[in-house]
Amino acid sequence: MSPLLEIERITAGYGPVQALFGVSLRMEEGQVVALMGRNGMGKTTTIRCISRLLPLTGGTIRVAGQDIARLSIPAVARLGVGLVPEGRRCFAPLTVAENLIVAARPGPWDMARVCTLFPRLAERMGQVSATLSGGEQQMLAIGRALMTNPRLLVLDEATEGLAPVVRQEIWDGVRALKAQGLSILLVDKSLREICAVADRAVILERGESAWAGPIDDLTADLSDRYLGV
Ligand SMILES: Nc1ncnc2c1ncn2[C@@H]1O[C@H](COP(=O)(O)OP(=O)(O)OP(=O)(O)O)[C@@H](O)[C@H]1O
Ligand SMILES: [Mg+2]
Repeated sequence: MSPLLEIERITAGYGPVQALFGVSLRMEEGQVVALMGRNGMGKTTTIRCISRLLPLTGGTIRVAGQDIARLSIPAVARLGVGLVPEGRRCFAPLTVAENLIVAARPGPWDMARVCTLFPRLAERMGQVSATLSGGEQQMLAIGRALMTNPRLLVLDEATEGLAPVVRQEIWDGVRALKAQGLSILLVDKSLREICAVADRAVILERGESAWAGPIDDLTADLSDRYLGV
């Protein structure tokens, strides 16, 4: 069986500025993989490439065995990539319920199940999403991605800028999703939380994958070298 996600030596950039110089990553169905690295190393850029928001200049990305190079953004979503982008981005004028409904595709995830995962959303279904707290917007962004019934959930800095107690609610949600067998690719600053939930890690350094392995092999030396400030 093909891996769920297979990234082979991809390169990409922004106009004349090259940002990725050879990122490789492989993840199997059911895994939680952390994409790590200091600021500006190419994590978000890699994620943009996976969702087809940014074209590749080289290399290959396959989702469930299918090369996505020629697919449209919605086609990649239909293949099963559910993105929760950096900075959340809900549809501000829409209510919580509307945000969820517009994303919906058939599958086990519906509004009721999203509300079970994040009960706070249940209390705010009629509220306009622009007026939600940061944590609630993040829960909504995750809920919206789940409504697409993804095979692969991609979380880019899902806990950034949130109060510790709210961050904990998000991590509880991520752990629950993992327990339900969902495959998750995640980027986050909290090494402790990543180590508690991820199966594997891939570390980027200046747009290249520098290390990959089981999370338990990520020693203090490695994290000092690649993640320390
Ligand atoms: N829209 C853009 N235009 C030009 N350069 C960009 C753009 N977005 C990112 N870059 C550059 O691409 C490189 C990789 O950035 P990227 O956002 O992928 O890093 P990151 O690992 O996600 O960092 P962070 O941890 O700060 O989110 C950086 O050098 C950055 O300055
Ligand atoms: Mg980023």
